[in-house]
Amino acid sequence: MSPSECHVEVVANKQIAPEYFSMRLAGPARLARFRPGQFLMLGWTDGRDPLLSRAMSIRSAKSPHPPFSKGGNGGIWGAKCEVEILYKVCGRGTALLAAMRPGRSLRVVGPLGNGFEISRNVTSAVLIAGGIGVPPIAALTEVLATRCAAHGTKIAVFLGGRSKADLLCVSDLRRAGATVRVATEDGSAGHKGLVTELLEQYLDARRSTLDGPLYACGPHPMLAAIAPIAERHNMPYQASMEANMACGFGACMGCVVPIRGNARERTYRLVCKDGPIFDGREILWDEQGAGVGKMEGSAV
Ligand SMILES: Cc1cc2nc3c(=O)[nH]c(=O)nc-3n(C[C@H](O)[C@H](O)[C@H](O)COP(=O)(O)OP(=O)(O)OC[C@H]3O[C@@H](n4cnc5c(N)ncnc54)[C@H](O)[C@@H]3O)c2cc1C
Ligand code: FES
Repeated sequence: MSPSECHVEVVANKQIAPEYFSMRLAGPARLARFRPGQFLMLGWTDGRDPLLSRAMSIRSAKSPHPPFSKGGNGGIWGAKCEVEILYKVCGRGTALLAAMRPGRSLRVVGPLGNGFEISRNVTSAVLIAGGIGVPPIAALTEVLATRCAAHGTKIAVFLGGRSKADLLCVSDLRRAGATVRVATEDGSAGHKGLVTELLEQYLDARRSTLDGPLYACGPHPMLAAIAPIAERHNMPYQASMEANMACGFGACMGCVVPIRGNARERTYRLVCKDGPIFDGREILWDEQGAGVGKMEGSAV
């Protein structure tokens, strides 16, 4: 096992909405030292089927957790941390995750990636999550609420989904002190339409009072639509990029994203290693997208 690889045990795996699950995993204490936006590669312990691990953002990680009594091959003696992931069942790997019962173990590599950069001295932060982009945004909201409490930072979160059932973590976000605005494409909750429409209305009304960055995680079209909005309002923009990931740590070169280099020429970065969080002004949004997205029905 590499230093960042370990086995974790499923503590709970609960369906929270028609297609969504919350899974809690017990593992070593070091997993609690994560930055919002970082992710884990979750793999199956026999390592053969499915062959590839699946990337999942860390929703939360709490330490200490009472040590586990299980040992032996793949056991997790001394586990002291409980990590939560939220996931949407959308293919073979996530369907297998959904079928896992407490007591089963998974192979985990991580925390991986860079995570969001947090500015402490700002009075406002605007966060946008689309669909299953919410776990890192909820984790970031909680960290911002704690770290920026002394500055009274106002946190505005925008959640978008196809329908009400796609809006996760609303009560967690409100509990952390954020103002939450929601948009659904079918109009079943909040604004009927795209979350970026709601964002624009908000920024147009308040721009002069906002000094913090925009943070976003969600599908590529949403991230790309936010880029010109951020530019128009002259706001720094941290975008958590999507990619198909086979390894998660820079070995397979399967997750490249085209960016603008220093001399404004096109260059490439790896979403897993250099990201997943990028400065939205660097991304070549028009060229990004091909190769991004999932292979439906993939057997890997
Ligand atoms: C940084 C990051 C964080 C994420 N966080 C979350 C989260 O918190 N919750 C959530 O629900 N989802 C999250 N995802 C998406 C999640 O990883 C996918 O939904 C999941 O892998 C789907 O797996 P599946 O087996 O169900 O789908 P399938 O479509 O059956 O399989 C997808 C698998 O194939 C691999 N794959 C597909 N195409 C390629 C390719 N071209 N090259 C290499 N490998 C390929 C994928 O990496 C994945 O392992 C995240 C993705 C990333 C990149
Ligand atoms: S997922 Fe393998 S290099 Fe990024």
